[in-house]
Amino acid sequence: MATPKAPPNKGRVQDPDEGHVSTVYDVKKMTDAYTAHWQDQLKRRGSHTAEERAQRADEAGQVSDDYYNFVSPIYEHFWGQTFHYCPVAPGKGIQASMHDYDTMFAGLVGIKEGMRVLDVGCGVGGPARTIASETGCNVVGVTRNKWHIERGWQLTKEAGLEGQVEHVEADFMKLPFKADSFDAVYAFDALCYAPDVKDVYTEISRVLKPGGAFAFHDWVMTDKYDEANSAHRHIRNAIEFGNGIVNMPRLAHVRESLRAVGFEIKHDENMAWRSVRPWWYAPGGVIWYARGWEDFQRVLEMSPVVFWSRQWLLHVLVWLGLVPREALQMGYTMHACVRSVANGGKLDIFTPMWVMVCKKVGSTKGKVA
Ligand SMILES: C[S@@+](CC[C@H](N)C(=O)[O-])C[C@H]1O[C@@H](n2cnc3c(N)ncnc32)[C@H](O)[C@@H]1O
Repeated sequence: MATPKAPPNKGRVQDPDEGHVSTVYDVKKMTDAYTAHWQDQLKRRGSHTAEERAQRADEAGQVSDDYYNFVSPIYEHFWGQTFHYCPVAPGKGIQASMHDYDTMFAGLVGIKEGMRVLDVGCGVGGPARTIASETGCNVVGVTRNKWHIERGWQLTKEAGLEGQVEHVEADFMKLPFKADSFDAVYAFDALCYAPDVKDVYTEISRVLKPGGAFAFHDWVMTDKYDEANSAHRHIRNAIEFGNGIVNMPRLAHVRESLRAVGFEIKHDENMAWRSVRPWWYAPGGVIWYARGWEDFQRVLEMSPVVFWSRQWLLHVLVWLGLVPREALQMGYTMHACVRSVANGGKLDIFTPMWVMVCKKVGSTKGKVA
C-alpha cells in the first residue's frame, strides 16, 4: 500500500502559550522561543562552551519542542510526512526512496502482523503509518511535541489507520508504559535528541519484552569525527543549533551505551553507504543529483543561490516593515539545519542514518510505570 499523500501544508502550528494548534504561524514568537536557548552563541558562529552545553542538556525536551514548533511546517513542505533521511534509491529522490526504505527497515527489525510496536519520537507519524500498513502491526507513536500529535492524528485518520496507529504525547526519557509491554521498539532520527542516549536506551529497555527487538536509524558523529579538530567541532555545533539537538552522540558512545544497558547488537551499519548518490545532495542544495521534477524543485529551494536571494529579499521586506526581523534569523537557522548536515556528510564525520538492530537480553530491570 502506498504512503498516503500529505494534504497541503496550511502553516498550522501549536501555540505554546495556549497549548493547542493555532492557525497562525507567529514567526517572531517561534523564532524567539527557539533562539533563546542559544543566546550569544549565535554571534560566536555557534561555538559552545561546556557550561552552555550542560545547561541546554537540562532543558533538552524544551529545546526540541521549541525547535519543532518553529520548523514543523517547513519540514512538512520539504520532507512530507516522514522527517528523516534515507539512502537514495536508483532513479529516485529522497521522498520517493522513503517508503521502500521504511518497509525494508521494518523487515530488518522483524516486525510482523499483530505485534505491538513502539515508535519513539514519531514526528507526524509517516514511518508509523508505512510500517503499520505494510506489516499489519499496531504502532504506538510517542513524541512530546503537541503539534506533531495533533497533525499525526489528523493524517492517521485520513489514512484510515486509527485502529492501528496511535499518537501519544510523552517525553521519551520517561515513557508512560508498563515494563515489558512492547514486542518491538524502533526510532527514526529521534534518539539523538536525548541529553545522553544511554538514558533513553535504558527507558526503552524497560518497556520492551525480554528477547524483543530494539532498532534505530539515527544521527551520530562517526569514528572519523575528531573533537580536537576545530572544523569538525564547528560542524557538530552547527548540527546541534540547526536541528534543536543538545548533545550530538558519538558512535563509540552509542555502542558502549547499548551494551551497558543490556542490548546485544545484531546489526550495525551506516545506511549512507547504501545510497547510490550522496544522501546529502538535498540539504546541500546540489541540484544535479536531483531526480524528477518534485525532487528538483525541493533541492533548488535549498540551493545556495535561492537561499541567498531569499535572504536578500527578506532584508528588503524587513526594511520596508512588511515582515518581522525574526524572519531573517529563521532563514539563517534553516540554513544551519541543512548545510551543517551536508558538510558533516561530505567529510563522513556525520551520518543521519546509522542503523543498529539489537535484542534485549535478560529480564527487565527498573520500576513498572
Ligand atoms: C526528526 S523528528 C523524526 C520524526 C519521525 N521519527 C520521522 O522519522 O518522521 C524527531 C522527533 O523526535 C521527537 N522528540 C525529540 N525529543 C523528544 C523527547 N524528549 N521525547 C519525545 N519525543 C521527542 C520530536 O518531537 C520529533 O517528533
